[in-house]
Amino acid sequence: MLSRPRRNRRTPAIRGMVRETSLSLDNLIYPYFVVDGKDQNIPIASLPGLSRFSEDNLLRDIDEAMELGLRSFVLFPAVDDSLKDKTATYSYADENFYLRIIRAVKERFPESSIMSDVAMDPYSSDGHDGLVEDGKILNDETLPILEKMSVAQAQAGIDIIGPSDMMDGRVEAIRDALDDEGFEEVAIMSYTAKYASAYYGPFRDALDSAPKSGDKKTYQMDPANKYEALREAHADAEEGADYLMVKPALCYLDIIHLLKNETDLPITAYNVSGEYAMLKAAAQNGWLDYEKAMPEMLLSIRRAGADGILTYFAKEYAQMMRDNKL
Ligand code: PBG
Repeated sequence: MLSRPRRNRRTPAIRGMVRETSLSLDNLIYPYFVVDGKDQNIPIASLPGLSRFSEDNLLRDIDEAMELGLRSFVLFPAVDDSLKDKTATYSYADENFYLRIIRAVKERFPESSIMSDVAMDPYSSDGHDGLVEDGKILNDETLPILEKMSVAQAQAGIDIIGPSDMMDGRVEAIRDALDDEGFEEVAIMSYTAKYASAYYGPFRDALDSAPKSGDKKTYQMDPANKYEALREAHADAEEGADYLMVKPALCYLDIIHLLKNETDLPITAYNVSGEYAMLKAAAQNGWLDYEKAMPEMLLSIRRAGADGILTYFAKEYAQMMRDNKL
């Protein structure tokens, strides 16, 4: 036998030498759910180990995460129903607690990179990412609302705007609005290939943001489609996106691979709430070895071609690294 692939797997040193993919903390973006008020730490049943934090507890947790070596974070607001309306006016209101929290985080941790979410759903009484009229999601009428939301977040000091709404033309609309207001340094990480997925369930529990009627299939992508992701990617690149995101990650590794090969922008992948929940549930039942399965999952997303990964596992991964378990 001339060729024996097992020779390259013989010892840890040899395996390390030929390892093709690495995952460092710099690749990870850690999501947080935030609420108004003080001393709030409200667990999310379908996301074991995660909570909705008020500003004080968020700052404490980010401090811990930064001690562990994480630097990039994304914040999602859980807004009280009484503040929601059809046009999501609270999303850019002066007294908005989410904007206050962005300011506080950037003041306390100027060296961190903070990303926002731009879409109407956390603030909309209809629970949709765009404006709803007669059961339809209006595209062009939604854009000015997304622009206002983005400019308000930029004024609060956000580093990266994350449009997750899937309206056509939103990247260009947001880019123009930011530039008009002098925020040409604020980046856009577009949710480029965001699929109409069942794996967002726990996230919608966390924010109480599920659509009040219908589903998101007229704006989020059909899980059956691959090449349509390229069309979205080219559009976002032309419209000025700085990063292209694929979401969810695990069922869409082929899409991550495709966009990495076919575009020249950094690719990020969102390892979504349902992907976290299913692994946690299996681990809690003793059906999977969490400390082995979790890093394998993250590595697979990197191997598929993601430069960055948004993942609820980020902090535990960083703890495992600290404890020399990786
Ligand atoms: C809102 C938004 C969603 C997620 C991120 N931003 C939910 C949705 O589109 O319904 C999902 C993230 C996750 O499941 O972890 N536009």
